[in-house]
Amino acid sequence: MSKLVIANFKMNGSKDFIESWIKDFFAEQESANSIIVALPSPYLLTFNNRGLALSGQNVSNEDSGAFTSQLSAEMLKDCGAKYCLIGHSEARQFLTETNEIIKQKFDQLKKESLQPILCIGEPLKIKEASKTTDYLTEQLDLIDSDQENLIIAYEPIWSIGTGLIPEINDIQLAIDSIRSKFHKPIKVLYGGSVNSSNASSISDKTDIDGLLVGGASLNPKEFAKIAQLC
Ligand code: PGA
Repeated sequence: MSKLVIANFKMNGSKDFIESWIKDFFAEQESANSIIVALPSPYLLTFNNRGLALSGQNVSNEDSGAFTSQLSAEMLKDCGAKYCLIGHSEARQFLTETNEIIKQKFDQLKKESLQPILCIGEPLKIKEASKTTDYLTEQLDLIDSDQENLIIAYEPIWSIGTGLIPEINDIQLAIDSIRSKFHKPIKVLYGGSVNSSNASSISDKTDIDGLLVGGASLNPKEFAKIAQLC
């Protein structure tokens, strides 16, 4: 396994759950190289230094101040996060985040030397209108094409939590179109209904650099299996 494999716990788990998740995960897998776990933020500090690279699930676009409910990049860093998801479709939808706000979040993370994992992906009606590439381009418009060390997660919205995944060719087309926007090599991940039955085909039949796993990551044995298949 050399590809990045990210567990996105979303708003799931508890202190006890995460404690036993870590125990069960390491029972399956000795090393957590290339594994990142996006925990709910209250647990970052508790589970820092447990052999797992930690990620936040979102960050404020502001430095600090009167922004009740928000977390700054500096706070995430203080709690041990090395990475942070931004632009996840659930945050875009429920928090009405725009591409402009997401770019500000990207800059906040960079300022604190945290690695953004920028999520993009099209809704079903865009896919049905064969406009996926244009849509992804628009979501990446504000990111400097000379940017180094980018990690972008391609997550079709219609695939998240539905059990549906795109045709392998369509995943590769999306990866190609994302890579073509940038002058430097970047990491492109796929997310959306990844499980141990489809992980190796996505990983082997495309030139994907890793997987972002939601629902299936909550089962530590299943997540370890996915990681071993990559
Ligand atoms: P899923 O979620 O694996 O449950 O589809 C992926 C994600 O939202 O990152």
